[in-house]
Amino acid sequence: MKYVIGVDLGTSAVKILLVDQLGEVVRSVSKSFALIQEKTGYSEQNPQDWVEGTTAGLFELLSGWNGRAEDIEGISFSGQMHGLVLLDENNDVLRPAILWNDTRTTAQCQQIYEAVGEERLLEITKNPALEGFTLPKLLWVKEYEPEIYSRAKAFVLPKDYLRYKMTGQLQMEYSDAAGTLLLDISKKEWSTEICSLLGIDPSLCPPLVYSHEEVGTVKMDYAEITGLSSATRVFAGGADNACGAIGSGILEDGKTLCSIGTSGVVLSYEASDDKDFEGKVHYFNHAAPDVFYTMGVTLAAGYSLTWFKDVFAANESFEDLLADIHSVPAGSNGLLFTPYLVGERTPHADAAIRASFIGMDASHQRKDFARAVLEGITFSLNESIDIFRRSGKEIDTIVSIGGGARNEDWLQMQADIFNAKIVRLNSEQGPGMGAAMLAAFGCEWFATLKHCADQFLKEDRQFQPIPSNVETYKKLFAIYQDVYGQTKELNKKLLEFRK
Ligand code: XUL
Repeated sequence: MKYVIGVDLGTSAVKILLVDQLGEVVRSVSKSFALIQEKTGYSEQNPQDWVEGTTAGLFELLSGWNGRAEDIEGISFSGQMHGLVLLDENNDVLRPAILWNDTRTTAQCQQIYEAVGEERLLEITKNPALEGFTLPKLLWVKEYEPEIYSRAKAFVLPKDYLRYKMTGQLQMEYSDAAGTLLLDISKKEWSTEICSLLGIDPSLCPPLVYSHEEVGTVKMDYAEITGLSSATRVFAGGADNACGAIGSGILEDGKTLCSIGTSGVVLSYEASDDKDFEGKVHYFNHAAPDVFYTMGVTLAAGYSLTWFKDVFAANESFEDLLADIHSVPAGSNGLLFTPYLVGERTPHADAAIRASFIGMDASHQRKDFARAVLEGITFSLNESIDIFRRSGKEIDTIVSIGGGARNEDWLQMQADIFNAKIVRLNSEQGPGMGAAMLAAFGCEWFATLKHCADQFLKEDRQFQPIPSNVETYKKLFAIYQDVYGQTKELNKKLLEFRK
């Protein structure tokens, strides 16, 4: 039997899967790491923590396995998107990585619009200037840390740095490059126009490759410390959302994904780059060759639930916290939550908005709050589905993965709020499985990623919308959509009190 490894570098942890030729996960290991949040709006991580976590994880994965390292043919990666990793002439890290959920760059987004023009930016990159994307972060360092910026010789994204440590080669692949705001999405090349309008030296941008492209083998010293074979072929990998899509079989028109990790996304396959969503949803290159996907992002999805648990139920498990939410009726007895803990992306690109509980009543218990948090996250994701439907897309079946697929009450809630059939996969592994599939495809085990998905992925269960809940949630969604406008100015005024 032959094997591949999928490494999923997330925001809270790195998860590593060892997968055989039948698509069975034979071993998995996870290593978590911390966020550095120095100020409100700041979110950073130390790239060294990613490398140490992955190296220790690979060692643990392999030392507890009784197979042969030489039988692991390929390894590939999925990575948290947009994070800026700045490297000097020796490819050493110059400062902590500024992550996708860091929102300090509102002024730099404005600067991009002024220099490039909103319309031209949309033409080239198919996306608006958002705080989370990489280019504004690069401009922030240029402005506030000129000494560091002057020493920068390259920038990469989180999983690219990890791969560099494994192979000694620096590249970026299209699905992640799409989230930098420096890629010409259609031509699949760096935009020298955007670089020159913003005074960025194009030589900072690394060579571009396809996600399934072989980019080297494991360096001898890295093989020694992890137990990998130096003959294992390394494939570029993809953005976590693109890999989540591959790992859920979102590989043809009409397929939609709801993925709830730290962030939450609703993502839809696009065969071409010629649809126009006016920048309301992100439009990126897929990690499957020469196709695309569109998606809306809720910045604090799983993060809202983790926040709620950490603050109000620190010593309990998620299972305990959510144990009795099914006894609370749809609508949480009039308690409504908006998940804007760290600002929002879709449909309100607004770094200053913050979360609310509206309608608190003396009768509310903790279980009402827990249910309201899940409903609020799901309403936020429904905003993206609403945009897709209004643009004419038919969405009747959605594959649900990540934290949102681990609780059956939440899956039913998704069916009721999205008013669509929800599919849960058997042994759902999300982006890590997508990364393993890119390695399997790169090793030519399958003619296409779709063939690989047909072999590797199995449906487990479907959740059908319950008509009475659908009606309740339709009414509540309209109220939910109102909260943003009603709280926007209040939150702006509160901004000066946030430290
Ligand atoms: C997507 C985004 C997040 C990260 C999470 O644009 O910012 O979903 O990819 O890792």
